Amino acid sequence: FLPQEVIRTKRDGGRLDPDALARFVTGIADGSVTEGQAAAFAMAVFFRGLDRAERVALLRAMTNSGSVLDWTPEGLPGPILDKHSTGGVGDKVSLVLAPIVAACGGFVPMISGRGLGHTGGTLDKMESIPGYRAQPDTPLLRQAVREAGCAIVGATADIAPADRRLYAIRDVTATVESLDLITCSILSKKLAAGLQGLVLDVKFGSGAFMPERDCAEALAKALVDAATGAGLPTVALLTDMDQVLGRTAGNALEVRECLDILTGGAREGRLWDVTREQTAELLLLGGLATDLDDARAKVDAALDSGRAAEHFARMVRVLGGPADLLEEPGKHLAAAPVVRAVEAPRAGFVAGQDVRAIGLAVVALGGGRAKASDPVDPAVGFSDVAALGTRVGPGEAPLCIVHARTGAEADAAAEAIRRAVTIGEAEPVPQNPVAGRV
Ligand code: URA
Repeated sequence: FLPQEVIRTKRDGGRLDPDALARFVTGIADGSVTEGQAAAFAMAVFFRGLDRAERVALLRAMTNSGSVLDWTPEGLPGPILDKHSTGGVGDKVSLVLAPIVAACGGFVPMISGRGLGHTGGTLDKMESIPGYRAQPDTPLLRQAVREAGCAIVGATADIAPADRRLYAIRDVTATVESLDLITCSILSKKLAAGLQGLVLDVKFGSGAFMPERDCAEALAKALVDAATGAGLPTVALLTDMDQVLGRTAGNALEVRECLDILTGGAREGRLWDVTREQTAELLLLGGLATDLDDARAKVDAALDSGRAAEHFARMVRVLGGPADLLEEPGKHLAAAPVVRAVEAPRAGFVAGQDVRAIGLAVVALGGGRAKASDPVDPAVGFSDVAALGTRVGPGEAPLCIVHARTGAEADAAAEAIRRAVTIGEAEPVPQNPVAGRV
């Protein structure tokens, strides 16, 4: 086996057989394929693409480059389910979805990531809970899934190690933006969690990883096709990221918003619509509901009864967080010293948001990372973000409330928000945030 022959075949537009792909991926994981070879392979795939069989073979090889969780010894009385989002600003759906699914009889080993660029990361949000062990070892992860029905955690080093190395190489060789490689990268980590059903939230719009709807739809199709090809029943929803999801962006603020939903706060608006649809799809996929209407009713009942909140509380407790987080969130979640409303420069309706710019403003406040080794400040960000169609201006709602470390940082964030929000004369027509299903 010569790695350069695999690269040459793909460079010249040939097809790679599963065995060649498996060996190449093993070489990426064990270091015998050099960084230069992995980069050349990624570039060849970027230009030449993979067909369906090659994609499934690459996905399987990447999944099997590390350990694949097997839940059978646990004897869990329900399906192993998860959801994945391609990332957004204010996307906190996972924190509400996981405990609802657990309350409905599913088991959710949710292996999540950190913030990337302007998008927030589920793991960063969970780490704003003091004491919460977001990187447990495998026995503790298993205990949390067994006892709480859900565990929102980071990947251990042995989950899809080939992806970890290849992604780092892609990141510095302009080969992240390959549909084939993105598909295999995302799904390898999900398949390694030993799932029986997966719902994907593929986002488009100004805050999404792929802003164009057509590109997002192509990604959704590629993901569903490869996942089902590898034996994992998968559904994708296309959702719009043309405004912040929910009313907050920033780690502890987002946890607080989720706790409000779980403990009986308002269930309305786009965050709730997206959460409810994704959760319902997952219940249906896992055989925990007879149809989508039944699934939606089960979602509502899990919240109304307080069972979903109990599952979240149990997960936090098992993973080392405070036992009374839901009763006293203010005692545990960090609060920023400077809290200021950002008034709109003129009266009107919120007609548009540059969501990417808002996400970057959270990063500038310290709530995200400019580079992977940066620490994250859980307290900072935005709350009370005015949704599209909100009337703003003197005597009306502010654009948002900034939570910052210093007055100067609050001023800079306020300026960024005023630039990022478009104010119009006419009330915009509300759009369903769930724009399609694959
Ligand atoms: N997220 C991933 O995990 N992998 C990619 O390639 C892109 C986004």
